[in-house]
Amino acid sequence: MQQKIIILDFGSQTTQLIGRRVRELDTFCEILPYNKFPKDDPTVIGVILSGSPYSVHDPEAFRVDLSQFVGRLPVLGICYGAQFISHTLGGRVEKADSREYGRAHLDRIDCDNPLFRGFEKGSQVWMSHGDTITGIPEGFEVIGSTKDVQNAAFWCSPGKQLSALNSQLSTGIWAVQFHPEVFHTIQGSLLLKNFVVDICGSRQEWSAASFVDTTVVELKEQIGQDRVILGLSGGVDSSVAAVLLHRAIGDRLTCIFVDHGMLRKNEFRQVMDDYKVLGLNVVGVDASEKFFSDLAGVTDPEQKRKIIGRDFVEVFNEQAKRIIADSNVPPSGAVGGACRWLAQGTIYPDRIESLNITGKVIKSHHNVGGLPKEMNLQLCEPLKWLFKDEVRRVGRQLGMPEHLITRHPFPGPGLAVRILGDITPEKVRILQEADDIYIRGLRDYKVRLSGEEARRVLAAGVPAAMQDGEIEVSLYDQIWQAGAILLSTVRSVGVMGDERTYEHPVALRAVTSTDAMTADWAHLPYDFMARVSNEIINKVRGVNRICYDISSKPPATIEWE
Ligand code: XMP
Repeated sequence: MQQKIIILDFGSQTTQLIGRRVRELDTFCEILPYNKFPKDDPTVIGVILSGSPYSVHDPEAFRVDLSQFVGRLPVLGICYGAQFISHTLGGRVEKADSREYGRAHLDRIDCDNPLFRGFEKGSQVWMSHGDTITGIPEGFEVIGSTKDVQNAAFWCSPGKQLSALNSQLSTGIWAVQFHPEVFHTIQGSLLLKNFVVDICGSRQEWSAASFVDTTVVELKEQIGQDRVILGLSGGVDSSVAAVLLHRAIGDRLTCIFVDHGMLRKNEFRQVMDDYKVLGLNVVGVDASEKFFSDLAGVTDPEQKRKIIGRDFVEVFNEQAKRIIADSNVPPSGAVGGACRWLAQGTIYPDRIESLNITGKVIKSHHNVGGLPKEMNLQLCEPLKWLFKDEVRRVGRQLGMPEHLITRHPFPGPGLAVRILGDITPEKVRILQEADDIYIRGLRDYKVRLSGEEARRVLAAGVPAAMQDGEIEVSLYDQIWQAGAILLSTVRSVGVMGDERTYEHPVALRAVTSTDAMTADWAHLPYDFMARVSNEIINKVRGVNRICYDISSKPPATIEWE
């Protein structure tokens, strides 16, 4: 039976990060809205309460009935989670004189407590709260304090009688006001390991290898002799989903890869070649003429997206119908039944219902494809429990090439949302050239890192060569996503040789992020920018100026349209 940790989400920005940290401990976890604790699930081995944008005193603050699990399962409250435990069980939470934000050090710490085993005195932690716990509930003991926060960590040991809940605890409650899940809490991973492994008793059986083994068995059972259709985009998620399904059902999987004409330079051909090497059965469709003709003269970003979405569904459905019709009349001797499934590379962050519980985090849905409803296909989503970094690990486990696995995310509508104004094949060609120089430059530029920076990069799963205590990584692998944008509605004057030019600028965008919901602009080295900008202007006709986009998300978005 697969064990799991439940993370109850009170709306914090870092809830997903807690989930990823738990998974890094080879332990399965589920993030659920604060009020959806699963009843009678014997696989749950522990509960983590997340932070929240609310104060426990806000009338609309999220509240959970602690008696559902406290005392029966080990509990760890983080930030608001800790304040909620304190507030509910008879402690005191008050507005802090000043917001406690940033680095702090655990000057007093009980290293004998199971939560802090292996900790060093003075360990750095990250605080981020407006309220502070001024009194802990009866029966609890303080196990960690910083200079400014007396009750930074506290616990109630098993065996205690808790009058607030009128019960005797068979297991402990832990609470920390700092955030162990963030990078700046230096021993945060150790704290979570102490909780998940030592206190909750995780057997640490969740790994890419075990995921592949169990999922292949499940997919075989689920699909039987049916056939499956999957839409490929060239991106990591759909590619890993395809290879995983292929491992389970072989050639009964048919993939469709639509070229709308606005992919990166040579991408369609290269990705088709990759898929061939991987043994996938892929129908490649060049539909670029249809897309270009339907987009002609359209300048409004939303309309462009709508046309691309509609055309994509049309092209995809036409192919899918053909595949279904063929599968209903299999050639004599063919193995396999009718086509009854549509597979998608949906991943866990796409589905976490709880992300929207505060209404404060808004993720627009960008899927260009749509379920061909009239085809009566059932949905198969083999990656629906995985975070992005786990998808990459599963890809490696399946033996996929590194360049497919570390590929940056790319929007479904492709370069169409990176060309301001109307779309023409010529503008796409100009942007493809500029983008290609930029992306190749990012791949070729290597940076040497050591110490904390190197650890951070390695912890993020970035592929790196190690030598003499340093690591070498490419700029490409250090950033979440990069691309060029053609400002085709703008012209500026320049001079090349003795000639006046009057051409378009290209903006370069590179961001760091963990989930694309927030992002910061990447601080690329000046010498790299100088080199790339020279090369683009010298080689790409139609471009005479390069800008670098230094906006973060929010308030900007990653794409320009
Ligand atoms: P924004 O621009 O909203 O983008 O900050 C967030 C992430 O989503 C990608 N993106 C898309 N992906 N279809 C997709 O499959 C789309 O229509 C689409 N629009 C944006 C974007 O590249 C970034 O990773």
